[in-house]
Amino acid sequence: MSKEYWKPGNMLYPVPAVMVSCGREGERPNIITVAWAGTICSDPAMVSISVRRERFSYGIIKDTGEFVVNLVNKKLVRAVDYCGVKSGRDTDKFKEMRLTPLPSGM
Ligand SMILES: Cc1cc2nc3c(=O)[nH]c(=O)nc-3n(C[C@H](O)[C@H](O)[C@H](O)COP(=O)(O)O)c2cc1C
Repeated sequence: MSKEYWKPGNMLYPVPAVMVSCGREGERPNIITVAWAGTICSDPAMVSISVRRERFSYGIIKDTGEFVVNLVNKKLVRAVDYCGVKSGRDTDKFKEMRLTPLPSGM
């Protein structure tokens, strides 16, 4: 079989979506749907997420260096969709989706 060349594109499917929460001190927390997330190391435990610069969440995560990866289930399907199309710039996604933000520290 000869080698095939495909034009660049995302070939890695399926990509299960997660909801990544983030927040700055004194501001309302934000949450964004992310499909490009993965494990990069088990010891030490490290995960990766890929967030476009233009996302509102990008600046928050860059400033704080912190985010939380929230796994989702069937009950959260609507929230996953909503948080993937609305921006925290102009929407309180936690409030609109009746999600409860909790402190991330241990
Ligand atoms: C299923 C799904 C997966 C998504 N995955 C990503 C992703 O991996 N990276 C990204 O930057 N945006 C992704 N998005 C788009 C953002 O979730 C979307 O632009 C969101 O409104 C950004 O919110 P923010 O402006 O509050 O940060 C995805 C959207 C959906 C619906």
